[in-house]
Amino acid sequence: MPRSTFLPFALPDTDGTELQQVAEALEKGWLTTGPKTKQFEKEFGDRVGAKHAIALNSCTAAMHLALEAIGLQPGDEVITSPYTFAATAEVIRYFDATPVFVDVSAGCFNMRPDLIEAAITAKTKAIIPIHIAGLPADLDPIAEIARKYNLAIIEDAAHAFPCHYKNRQIGTALDGLKHFICYSFYATKTITTGEGGMLCTDNDEFADRCRIMALHGISRDAWKRYTAEGTWYYEIVAPGYKYNLTDIASGLGLAQLAKADRMWQRRHDIAQRYHQAFQNHPAFQLPVDRSDCQHAWHLYILRLNLDNLTIDRAKFYDELKLRNIGASVHFIPLHIHPYYRDKYGYTPQDYPVAYGEYTRALSLPIYSKMTDGDVADVIEAVLDVAKMYATEQSTTVQPKTCSNCKIPC
Ligand SMILES: Cc1ncc(COP(=O)(O)O)c(C=O)c1O
Repeated sequence: MPRSTFLPFALPDTDGTELQQVAEALEKGWLTTGPKTKQFEKEFGDRVGAKHAIALNSCTAAMHLALEAIGLQPGDEVITSPYTFAATAEVIRYFDATPVFVDVSAGCFNMRPDLIEAAITAKTKAIIPIHIAGLPADLDPIAEIARKYNLAIIEDAAHAFPCHYKNRQIGTALDGLKHFICYSFYATKTITTGEGGMLCTDNDEFADRCRIMALHGISRDAWKRYTAEGTWYYEIVAPGYKYNLTDIASGLGLAQLAKADRMWQRRHDIAQRYHQAFQNHPAFQLPVDRSDCQHAWHLYILRLNLDNLTIDRAKFYDELKLRNIGASVHFIPLHIHPYYRDKYGYTPQDYPVAYGEYTRALSLPIYSKMTDGDVADVIEAVLDVAKMYATEQSTTVQPKTCSNCKIPC
């Protein structure tokens, strides 16, 4: 029986604890950046093992500030992957610098470290690896290359909380590197403040610069100027931005942080149920998980074996919608969007894995508010569509072991 009501693709897991935090902020009368934001920074930094955690109004702002702090200049180059959201590359363009893409590994959707060195030139200043869906990018070889060529690493960790790469929590410092980790607390993310982000680094100078630039380039702790410890006097040291997070949002963040483990466990369990339902099915390939990492399960990107279906991904999505299941697509690779295509003359096949995986990627709902019944409804609908549109003869698709990261994908 198809569902009678629509299951949204994503929903935040909020309850009385968020309401209480917001009420406290309103009662105290401190609405913009203040004590709750300081507390959120402290608790988040402690949680991920970062020396400095700077609360901002988006992950985009965090990546922008990181590039500003390393002194990115017009004409410089930054290496990243095309399999990402707009934000990752647009922040490079803010500086009139060039995003240089390297292709991804199938199934991981993360950048292939073995392609990075060939993309480095004298103008390269940084690498932005993205932990797509919450599966960590292969940071060891990426860090090795960054050390060799003295490049900064700015992790786009929008999907990666909570998340471990090997035995290292995403958020902790990579030794001997200019290094930043940028999180998103956008409404659909694994913890949310509505809109919001966090910039983590262990470098004191970078942290100082980012704090100053996040608040109009005015002297440190400008937010304190309306407190008893504050003073009216401030100095503008650079033309900064307005990227601070409010105490209302930070209150949401504190409440979300307190239940992050419970929410992760639920997403993890949903992923296992999807794995069981779709493994060995001729129409599907499962998302890659690594036994030596902790996947954040922000997204569950199922890959359709289009050879075994008579429909394409767009029609599959429509069929799920007819069955009252919300799905999505992550991501339309940047190099096929008009701006990047026209500016840099890309064709889809310039990054063939990113493009090929995009044509068959379908993100299923995975959030802690889903009930067991919701999960069963998604599974039933997905299997029903696959059955209805199965080709007469199905071919077996064997996962290959990816030579890059040595895991089956
Ligand atoms: C991979 C990735 N990077 C960056 C961002 C930007 O995050 P924010 O909306 O917090 O700026 C997103 C947002 O969806 C994302 O998916």
